[in-house]
Amino acid sequence: MHYRTFGRTGWQVSEISFGAWQLGGQWGTVDDEESIGALLQAYEQGINFVDTAELYGAGHSEEVIGESLRRWQGDKVYVATKIQPLRWPDPDDDAPLMRGRYPEWYLREGVDAALTRLGVERLDLLQLHCWAPSALTSLDWLETLNALRVEGKVDRVGVSLRDYRPDEGVDVAALGLVDSIQVIFNLFEQRPTERLFPASAASDTAIIDRVAFDSGSLSGLWTPATYDSWEEGSQQKEMFRGERFTETYERVEALKRLVSPYYSSLAEAAVKYVLSSPEVSTVIAGMSSSRNISRNVGYSDGLPFPEELRAQLADHAWIRNYYQ
Ligand SMILES: NC(=O)c1ccc[n+]([C@@H]2O[C@H](COP(=O)([O-])OP(=O)(O)OC[C@H]3O[C@@H](n4cnc5c(N)ncnc54)[C@H](OP(=O)(O)O)[C@@H]3O)[C@@H](O)[C@H]2O)c1
Repeated sequence: MHYRTFGRTGWQVSEISFGAWQLGGQWGTVDDEESIGALLQAYEQGINFVDTAELYGAGHSEEVIGESLRRWQGDKVYVATKIQPLRWPDPDDDAPLMRGRYPEWYLREGVDAALTRLGVERLDLLQLHCWAPSALTSLDWLETLNALRVEGKVDRVGVSLRDYRPDEGVDVAALGLVDSIQVIFNLFEQRPTERLFPASAASDTAIIDRVAFDSGSLSGLWTPATYDSWEEGSQQKEMFRGERFTETYERVEALKRLVSPYYSSLAEAAVKYVLSSPEVSTVIAGMSSSRNISRNVGYSDGLPFPEELRAQLADHAWIRNYYQ
Protein backbone atom coordinates (compact mmCIF):
# COMPACT_ATOMS: atom_id res chain seq x y z
CA MET A 1 0.00 0.00 0.00
CA HIS A 2 1.26 3.46 -0.88
CA TYR A 3 0.38 6.50 1.24
CA ARG A 4 -0.24 10.13 0.29
CA THR A 5 -0.26 13.33 2.27
CA PHE A 6 -3.80 14.45 3.01
CA GLY A 7 -3.62 18.10 2.01
CA ARG A 8 -2.52 20.47 4.75
CA THR A 9 -3.30 18.06 7.59
CA GLY A 10 -0.01 16.22 7.35
CA TRP A 11 -1.87 12.90 7.67
CA GLN A 12 -0.42 10.04 5.67
CA VAL A 13 -3.44 8.22 4.25
CA SER A 14 -3.63 5.05 2.22
CA GLU A 15 -4.19 5.59 -1.51
CA ILE A 16 -7.02 3.08 -1.31
CA SER A 17 -9.53 3.69 1.42
CA PHE A 18 -12.78 2.13 2.52
CA GLY A 19 -16.10 3.55 1.30
CA ALA A 20 -18.61 2.38 3.86
CA TRP A 21 -21.97 3.25 2.29
CA GLN A 22 -22.67 -0.45 1.64
CA LEU A 23 -22.30 -1.24 5.33
CA GLY A 24 -25.46 0.75 6.07
CA GLY A 25 -27.67 -1.77 4.25
CA GLN A 26 -29.01 0.34 1.36
CA TRP A 27 -27.22 -1.74 -1.30
CA GLY A 28 -28.67 -5.05 -0.11
CA THR A 29 -28.84 -7.02 3.10
CA VAL A 30 -25.70 -6.83 5.23
CA ASP A 31 -24.34 -8.93 8.06
CA ASP A 32 -22.62 -6.65 10.58
CA GLU A 33 -20.08 -9.26 11.63
CA GLU A 34 -19.07 -9.67 7.99
CA SER A 35 -18.80 -5.89 7.64
CA ILE A 36 -16.57 -5.65 10.72
CA GLY A 37 -14.47 -8.51 9.35
CA ALA A 38 -14.10 -6.65 6.04
CA LEU A 39 -13.02 -3.47 7.82
CA LEU A 40 -10.48 -5.31 9.96
CA GLN A 41 -9.11 -7.07 6.89
CA ALA A 42 -8.75 -3.68 5.22
CA TYR A 43 -6.90 -2.23 8.24
CA GLU A 44 -4.62 -5.30 8.30
CA GLN A 45 -3.77 -4.67 4.66
CA GLY A 46 -2.78 -1.07 5.29
CA ILE A 47 -6.01 0.85 4.65
CA ASN A 48 -6.13 3.64 7.22
CA PHE A 49 -8.97 5.86 5.99
CA VAL A 50 -12.72 5.13 6.03
CA ASP A 51 -15.50 7.26 4.57
CA THR A 52 -18.97 7.08 6.04
CA ALA A 53 -22.00 9.29 6.73
CA GLU A 54 -24.95 9.79 8.98
CA LEU A 55 -27.05 8.98 5.89
CA TYR A 56 -25.68 5.47 5.36
CA GLY A 57 -28.29 3.26 7.02
CA ALA A 58 -29.40 6.08 9.34
CA GLY A 59 -26.08 5.98 11.19
CA HIS A 60 -25.67 2.22 11.05
CA SER A 61 -22.52 2.38 8.93
CA GLU A 62 -20.93 4.64 11.58
CA GLU A 63 -21.89 2.23 14.37
CA VAL A 64 -20.34 -0.73 12.56
CA ILE A 65 -17.14 1.27 11.94
CA GLY A 66 -17.10 2.26 15.62
CA GLU A 67 -17.21 -1.40 16.60
CA SER A 68 -14.36 -2.22 14.19
CA LEU A 69 -12.22 0.54 15.75
CA ARG A 70 -12.78 -0.89 19.23
CA ARG A 71 -11.57 -4.29 18.01
CA TRP A 72 -8.58 -2.87 16.09
CA GLN A 73 -5.26 -2.86 17.93
CA GLY A 74 -3.05 -1.45 15.16
CA ASP A 75 -2.07 1.96 13.82
CA LYS A 76 -4.35 5.00 13.59
CA VAL A 77 -7.36 4.70 11.27
CA TYR A 78 -8.87 8.02 10.12
CA VAL A 79 -12.65 8.14 9.86
CA ALA A 80 -14.31 10.75 7.68
CA THR A 81 -18.01 11.13 8.27
CA LYS A 82 -20.64 13.46 6.83
CA ILE A 83 -23.60 15.35 8.13
CA GLN A 84 -26.72 15.87 6.03
CA PRO A 85 -28.21 19.34 5.68
CA LEU A 86 -31.39 20.13 7.58
CA ARG A 87 -33.04 20.19 4.15
CA TRP A 88 -31.49 18.88 0.92
CA PRO A 89 -31.64 21.25 -2.07
CA ASP A 90 -33.42 20.12 -5.22
CA PRO A 91 -30.74 18.28 -7.29
CA ASP A 92 -31.84 20.30 -10.34
CA ASP A 93 -31.30 23.63 -8.59
CA ASP A 94 -28.13 25.12 -10.07
CA ALA A 95 -27.65 27.74 -7.37
CA PRO A 96 -29.22 26.61 -4.08
CA LEU A 97 -28.92 28.90 -1.09
CA MET A 98 -26.95 27.32 1.76
CA ARG A 99 -28.02 29.64 4.56
CA GLY A 100 -30.17 27.80 7.04
CA ARG A 101 -29.20 24.32 5.89
CA TYR A 102 -26.62 23.85 8.67
CA PRO A 103 -27.76 25.92 11.68
CA GLU A 104 -25.60 25.84 14.78
CA TRP A 105 -28.00 23.77 16.95
CA TYR A 106 -28.33 21.23 14.15
CA LEU A 107 -24.58 20.84 13.52
CA ARG A 108 -23.95 20.51 17.25
CA GLU A 109 -26.61 17.80 17.64
CA GLY A 110 -25.31 16.00 14.56
CA VAL A 111 -21.71 16.03 15.75
CA ASP A 112 -22.68 14.71 19.19
CA ALA A 113 -24.72 11.92 17.58
CA ALA A 114 -21.85 10.95 15.25
CA LEU A 115 -19.41 10.91 18.18
CA THR A 116 -21.76 8.54 20.03
CA ARG A 117 -22.32 6.25 17.05
CA LEU A 118 -18.60 6.02 16.30
CA GLY A 119 -17.69 5.80 19.98
CA VAL A 120 -14.89 8.36 19.69
CA GLU A 121 -14.10 11.62 21.49
CA ARG A 122 -13.22 13.60 18.38
CA LEU A 123 -14.23 13.27 14.72
CA ASP A 124 -11.14 13.09 12.52
CA LEU A 125 -12.86 14.68 9.53
CA LEU A 126 -16.38 16.08 9.39
CA GLN A 127 -17.67 16.74 5.88
CA LEU A 128 -20.76 18.71 4.98
CA HIS A 129 -22.67 16.14 2.92
CA CYS A 130 -24.16 18.97 0.91
CA TRP A 131 -22.17 21.83 -0.54
CA ALA A 132 -23.08 24.71 -2.83
CA PRO A 133 -20.98 27.79 -3.66
CA SER A 134 -23.42 30.15 -1.93
CA ALA A 135 -21.98 28.81 1.35
CA LEU A 136 -18.88 30.92 0.64
CA THR A 137 -20.79 34.07 1.49
CA SER A 138 -23.00 32.57 4.23
CA LEU A 139 -20.37 31.34 6.63
CA ASP A 140 -22.55 30.41 9.61
CA TRP A 141 -21.62 26.73 9.12
CA LEU A 142 -17.90 27.55 9.33
CA GLU A 143 -18.27 29.54 12.54
CA THR A 144 -19.92 26.53 14.17
CA LEU A 145 -17.39 24.06 12.82
CA ASN A 146 -14.51 26.28 13.97
CA ALA A 147 -16.06 26.42 17.44
CA LEU A 148 -16.40 22.61 17.46
CA ARG A 149 -12.74 22.33 16.47
CA VAL A 150 -11.73 24.61 19.32
CA GLU A 151 -13.84 22.53 21.70
CA GLY A 152 -12.03 19.41 20.52
CA LYS A 153 -15.03 17.62 19.04
CA VAL A 154 -13.88 17.88 15.43
CA ASP A 155 -10.32 17.75 14.12
CA ARG A 156 -10.65 18.69 10.43
CA VAL A 157 -13.49 19.80 8.17
CA GLY A 158 -14.34 19.07 4.55
CA VAL A 159 -17.13 19.24 2.02
CA SER A 160 -18.64 16.66 -0.29
CA LEU A 161 -19.64 18.07 -3.68
CA ARG A 162 -23.01 17.35 -5.23
CA ASP A 163 -23.12 14.55 -7.80
CA TYR A 164 -21.59 15.48 -11.12
CA ARG A 165 -21.00 19.13 -10.22
CA PRO A 166 -17.21 19.26 -9.79
CA ASP A 167 -16.97 22.97 -10.55
CA GLU A 168 -19.03 23.76 -7.44
CA GLY A 169 -15.82 23.02 -5.53
CA VAL A 170 -13.48 25.32 -7.47
CA ASP A 171 -13.89 28.47 -5.36
CA VAL A 172 -13.82 26.71 -2.00
CA ALA A 173 -10.68 24.91 -3.17
CA ALA A 174 -9.04 28.12 -4.38
CA LEU A 175 -9.73 29.82 -1.05
CA GLY A 176 -8.42 26.84 0.92
CA LEU A 177 -11.37 27.21 3.27
CA VAL A 178 -11.67 23.53 4.18
CA ASP A 179 -9.21 20.67 4.56
CA SER A 180 -10.75 18.32 1.99
CA ILE A 181 -13.13 18.14 -0.93
CA GLN A 182 -14.91 14.95 -1.95
CA VAL A 183 -15.82 14.58 -5.63
CA ILE A 184 -16.92 12.02 -8.22
CA PHE A 185 -13.99 11.32 -10.52
CA ASN A 186 -13.70 8.20 -12.66
CA LEU A 187 -13.21 6.95 -16.24
CA PHE A 188 -16.57 8.45 -17.23
CA GLU A 189 -16.48 11.63 -15.11
CA GLN A 190 -13.15 13.24 -16.05
CA ARG A 191 -14.03 16.93 -15.55
CA PRO A 192 -12.45 17.38 -12.07
CA THR A 193 -9.01 17.43 -13.73
CA GLU A 194 -9.91 20.63 -15.60
CA ARG A 195 -10.57 23.22 -12.88
CA LEU A 196 -11.08 21.56 -9.51
CA PHE A 197 -7.76 19.76 -9.23
CA PRO A 198 -5.58 22.77 -10.18
CA ALA A 199 -7.49 24.90 -7.63
CA SER A 200 -7.09 22.30 -4.88
CA ALA A 201 -3.40 21.87 -5.66
CA ALA A 202 -2.84 25.62 -5.34
CA SER A 203 -4.26 25.67 -1.79
CA ASP A 204 -3.10 22.15 -0.85
CA THR A 205 -6.66 21.00 -0.21
CA ALA A 206 -7.00 17.22 -0.08
CA ILE A 207 -9.15 15.54 -2.73
CA ILE A 208 -11.16 12.48 -1.76
CA ASP A 209 -12.23 10.58 -4.84
CA ARG A 210 -15.56 8.80 -4.74
CA VAL A 211 -17.23 6.23 -7.01
CA ALA A 212 -14.09 5.25 -8.89
CA PHE A 213 -16.07 2.20 -10.12
CA ASP A 214 -19.13 4.28 -11.08
CA SER A 215 -20.94 2.52 -8.21
CA GLY A 216 -20.22 -0.86 -9.81
CA SER A 217 -20.27 -0.58 -13.60
CA LEU A 218 -16.52 0.08 -13.89
CA SER A 219 -15.81 -3.11 -11.96
CA GLY A 220 -16.10 -4.63 -15.45
CA LEU A 221 -17.85 -7.66 -13.98
CA TRP A 222 -21.37 -7.00 -15.24
CA THR A 223 -23.07 -9.38 -17.67
CA PRO A 224 -26.43 -8.77 -19.39
CA ALA A 225 -28.03 -10.74 -16.50
CA THR A 226 -26.58 -8.58 -13.72
CA TYR A 227 -29.51 -6.19 -13.42
CA ASP A 228 -32.00 -8.98 -12.65
CA SER A 229 -29.69 -10.37 -9.95
CA TRP A 230 -29.96 -7.24 -7.77
CA GLU A 231 -32.29 -7.09 -4.78
CA GLU A 232 -35.58 -5.27 -5.34
CA GLY A 233 -35.42 -1.81 -3.79
CA SER A 234 -31.61 -1.75 -3.65
CA GLN A 235 -29.68 1.39 -4.56
CA GLN A 236 -28.17 -0.09 -7.74
CA LYS A 237 -31.52 -1.38 -9.01
CA GLU A 238 -32.85 2.16 -8.83
CA MET A 239 -29.72 3.82 -10.20
CA PHE A 240 -29.39 1.71 -13.34
CA ARG A 241 -33.12 1.31 -14.07
CA GLY A 242 -34.71 1.21 -17.53
CA GLU A 243 -32.38 1.91 -20.45
CA ARG A 244 -29.66 3.06 -18.08
CA PHE A 245 -28.28 -0.42 -17.46
CA THR A 246 -27.93 -1.34 -21.14
CA GLU A 247 -26.41 1.98 -22.13
CA THR A 248 -23.89 1.79 -19.29
CA TYR A 249 -23.11 -1.84 -20.08
CA GLU A 250 -22.32 -1.03 -23.72
CA ARG A 251 -20.02 1.84 -22.76
CA VAL A 252 -18.28 -0.35 -20.20
CA GLU A 253 -17.69 -3.08 -22.80
CA ALA A 254 -16.04 -0.48 -25.07
CA LEU A 255 -13.80 0.63 -22.20
CA LYS A 256 -12.86 -2.98 -21.46
CA ARG A 257 -11.65 -3.44 -25.03
CA LEU A 258 -9.63 -0.22 -24.81
CA VAL A 259 -7.83 -0.99 -21.53
CA SER A 260 -7.25 -4.72 -22.10
CA PRO A 261 -3.77 -4.35 -23.68
CA TYR A 262 -2.66 -2.42 -20.57
CA TYR A 263 -4.46 -3.91 -17.57
CA SER A 264 -5.73 -7.30 -16.48
CA SER A 265 -9.15 -5.87 -15.58
CA LEU A 266 -11.24 -2.73 -16.02
CA ALA A 267 -11.36 -2.36 -12.23
CA GLU A 268 -7.57 -2.08 -12.13
CA ALA A 269 -7.57 0.52 -14.91
CA ALA A 270 -10.34 2.44 -13.11
CA VAL A 271 -8.37 2.70 -9.87
CA LYS A 272 -5.06 3.45 -11.55
CA TYR A 273 -6.64 6.16 -13.67
CA VAL A 274 -7.86 8.09 -10.63
CA LEU A 275 -4.63 7.54 -8.73
CA SER A 276 -2.70 8.96 -11.69
CA SER A 277 -3.87 12.44 -10.64
CA PRO A 278 -1.48 13.50 -7.87
CA GLU A 279 -4.14 15.84 -6.44
CA VAL A 280 -6.16 12.79 -5.35
CA SER A 281 -5.18 11.94 -1.77
CA THR A 282 -7.27 8.81 -1.51
CA VAL A 283 -9.83 6.75 -3.42
CA ILE A 284 -12.76 5.62 -1.30
CA ALA A 285 -13.57 2.29 -2.86
CA GLY A 286 -16.95 0.83 -1.99
CA MET A 287 -16.11 -2.77 -1.19
CA SER A 288 -17.59 -5.51 0.91
CA SER A 289 -15.95 -8.69 -0.35
CA SER A 290 -12.61 -9.89 0.91
CA ARG A 291 -11.54 -10.47 -2.67
CA ASN A 292 -12.21 -6.89 -3.73
CA ILE A 293 -10.38 -5.48 -0.72
CA SER A 294 -7.26 -7.47 -1.61
CA ARG A 295 -7.57 -6.61 -5.29
CA ASN A 296 -7.88 -2.88 -4.57
CA VAL A 297 -4.98 -2.87 -2.12
CA GLY A 298 -2.92 -4.54 -4.85
CA TYR A 299 -3.68 -1.70 -7.29
CA SER A 300 -1.75 0.71 -5.08
CA ASP A 301 1.63 -0.18 -6.55
CA GLY A 302 3.01 3.22 -7.55
CA LEU A 303 3.34 2.32 -11.25
CA PRO A 304 2.74 5.16 -13.75
CA PHE A 305 -0.42 5.31 -15.89
CA PRO A 306 0.24 4.90 -19.65
CA GLU A 307 -0.04 8.32 -21.31
CA GLU A 308 -1.21 6.90 -24.66
CA LEU A 309 -4.11 5.23 -22.83
CA ARG A 310 -5.02 8.47 -21.04
CA ALA A 311 -5.22 10.26 -24.39
CA GLN A 312 -7.68 7.67 -25.74
CA LEU A 313 -9.81 7.75 -22.59
CA ALA A 314 -10.92 11.31 -23.29
CA ASP A 315 -13.31 9.93 -25.94
CA HIS A 316 -15.05 7.82 -23.28
CA ALA A 317 -15.94 10.68 -20.96
CA TRP A 318 -19.68 10.57 -20.29
CA ILE A 319 -21.63 13.10 -18.30
CA ARG A 320 -24.87 11.96 -16.70
CA ASN A 321 -26.37 11.75 -13.23
CA TYR A 322 -27.88 8.40 -12.34
CA TYR A 323 -28.23 9.32 -8.68
CA GLN A 324 -31.38 11.23 -9.65
N1 LIG B 1 -22.50 12.27 -1.72
C1 LIG B 1 -21.49 11.57 -1.24
O1 LIG B 1 -20.75 12.12 -0.46
C2 LIG B 1 -21.27 10.15 -1.66
C3 LIG B 1 -22.08 9.59 -2.66
C4 LIG B 1 -21.79 8.30 -3.07
C5 LIG B 1 -20.76 7.58 -2.50
N2 LIG B 1 -19.99 8.12 -1.50
C6 LIG B 1 -18.88 7.37 -0.88
O2 LIG B 1 -18.14 6.74 -1.90
C7 LIG B 1 -18.03 5.35 -1.62
C8 LIG B 1 -17.96 4.58 -2.91
O3 LIG B 1 -19.18 4.72 -3.62
P1 LIG B 1 -19.92 3.45 -4.23
O4 LIG B 1 -19.76 2.32 -3.32
O5 LIG B 1 -21.25 3.91 -4.66
O6 LIG B 1 -19.16 3.19 -5.60
P2 LIG B 1 -17.83 2.51 -6.12
O7 LIG B 1 -16.74 2.53 -5.13
O8 LIG B 1 -17.62 3.16 -7.42
O9 LIG B 1 -18.32 1.00 -6.44
C9 LIG B 1 -18.56 0.04 -5.48
C10 LIG B 1 -18.82 -1.27 -6.20
O10 LIG B 1 -17.63 -1.72 -6.84
C11 LIG B 1 -17.36 -3.08 -6.48
N3 LIG B 1 -15.90 -3.26 -6.42
C12 LIG B 1 -15.04 -2.66 -5.56
N4 LIG B 1 -13.78 -3.04 -5.83
C13 LIG B 1 -13.83 -3.88 -6.89
C14 LIG B 1 -12.86 -4.61 -7.63
N5 LIG B 1 -11.56 -4.53 -7.35
N6 LIG B 1 -13.25 -5.38 -8.64
C15 LIG B 1 -14.57 -5.47 -8.95
N7 LIG B 1 -15.55 -4.81 -8.31
C16 LIG B 1 -15.18 -4.01 -7.27
C17 LIG B 1 -18.01 -3.28 -5.13
O11 LIG B 1 -18.30 -4.66 -4.95
P3 LIG B 1 -18.37 -5.39 -3.49
O12 LIG B 1 -19.26 -4.54 -2.63
O13 LIG B 1 -18.96 -6.71 -3.82
O14 LIG B 1 -17.01 -5.49 -2.94
C18 LIG B 1 -19.25 -2.40 -5.27
O15 LIG B 1 -20.27 -3.12 -5.95
C19 LIG B 1 -19.25 5.03 -0.75
O16 LIG B 1 -19.10 3.86 0.01
C20 LIG B 1 -19.31 6.27 0.09
O17 LIG B 1 -18.38 6.16 1.15
C21 LIG B 1 -20.24 9.41 -1.10
